[in-house]
Amino acid sequence: MQGGAGPSGPVRPAIHYSPAATWLNDPNGLIFHNSLWHLYYQTNPRGLTWGNMSWGHATSPDLAHWTEHETAISLDESEEIFSGSMVCDETGSAGFGAGALVAIYTSHRGTPDVGVHQTQALAWSTDGGFTFHKFAGNPVLDRDSADFRDPKVFRHGDRWLMVAVEAVENVVVLYASDDLREWELLSEFRDPTAAAPTWECPDLFPLLDARGAAVWVLILSVNPEALTGGSGTRYYLGDFDGVTFTPSADPGAQGWLDQGRDYYAAVSFFDAPDDRRVMIGWMNNWEYANALPSQPWAMQMAWPRELSIAGSVSRGIRRLIQTPAPLPTGPETFSFDGSLAGDLTIPAVAATAPALVEVEIERGGASLVHLAIGLTFIWEADTLTVCPRIGLPERPAGFDRAVSTPLPGDSHRLSIIVDHGSVEVFIDGGHTVLTQLCPPALLASPWALRVTGGPVQIHVHTRRLV
Ligand code: FRU
Repeated sequence: MQGGAGPSGPVRPAIHYSPAATWLNDPNGLIFHNSLWHLYYQTNPRGLTWGNMSWGHATSPDLAHWTEHETAISLDESEEIFSGSMVCDETGSAGFGAGALVAIYTSHRGTPDVGVHQTQALAWSTDGGFTFHKFAGNPVLDRDSADFRDPKVFRHGDRWLMVAVEAVENVVVLYASDDLREWELLSEFRDPTAAAPTWECPDLFPLLDARGAAVWVLILSVNPEALTGGSGTRYYLGDFDGVTFTPSADPGAQGWLDQGRDYYAAVSFFDAPDDRRVMIGWMNNWEYANALPSQPWAMQMAWPRELSIAGSVSRGIRRLIQTPAPLPTGPETFSFDGSLAGDLTIPAVAATAPALVEVEIERGGASLVHLAIGLTFIWEADTLTVCPRIGLPERPAGFDRAVSTPLPGDSHRLSIIVDHGSVEVFIDGGHTVLTQLCPPALLASPWALRVTGGPVQIHVHTRRLV
């Protein structure tokens, strides 16, 4: 389920990436190279449901306008191509030439009947990431495991490091290599409090805090049994000494990247410019992904986010902040700054274009704030609740479950990105994010803000994003 219903059929998400006519799940191999953002992704080149896993490919100059290319790495009779990452091998350490792009992917072989075997394998490109050759020496890392997958490789000092998972054992494994071919086990990360049937798609990278000290961030996708049920993505802030990741025990040093139901398998770009840490997640949930009504395409990515740290170690408070990557700019369509007691009608934009809705509220004595922007949000006491997503002709299990997130305090700012088929809410400059697919029927319903027990001071500004 993506897109809104237009006069002549489904309307594709306008600024979020969706494939032309195939299935999409995890982002893979995210890399910024030759002035282009490369998005590879899990795709089924032959259909609209999960299967025949291969790497699809799209590029963008700005993260908003995407061009789809030929399938980059295809399954063959011996293997499917599961998730992984991409590096630019400046020195040619792996033997594929200086500046080659090297994909490190999970080679998935077999079936549950005969036994599954997952190993890590390489494919390289010398044309800037458009065509790939599988390495004849594959696999490069074999633990004799059925559930060893999702390698994320990055440069650290003068060597390559890899984080991957033993998915069913719930272990993040860390390896090092000089040439991407021979890997040495460095350490393992476990967290029994995050036990789940599978851990998937890890990432590990440093961010600088407000005083310039490095804070390491471990990202981990958990499925099912995430925060809101089904799949979700966790983070841990901590230290990394080049061998072992140690999570911080500080309050707020771990949590979920998203409070909604549709943010999974999020990983970051290799070599993003200006030391930016840009991340893309799959905007869906394995609980119902395969049961959503089909379109001429299946699934979409969430809007890219930039990660940073607020606060510092020395002040004892550090928070992970996620802000939307720069959005396309369009004209303002509505603004209201003043006092409200009762109802405010907000002219809906999303039927014709993606939109950004910015709402700032000082609720004063109001007992209830009710905001309908495709989805309906209720802010009451210390909680923001997103009402059930009704409006689909069939109701995939779990899709219409309500979600809520703590929202104490008197004054908050919501930046809401609305596209055909989705609503993403960034609260208070990215301290909290909530991502939900939004059925077309709901997107078409009127937009409004209602205050009970006001008056309250509000600012509402909407603009088109194209
Ligand atoms: C996560 C995941 C990965 C795997 C891929 C297969 O959504 O299950 O662990 O590599 O999808 O498509």
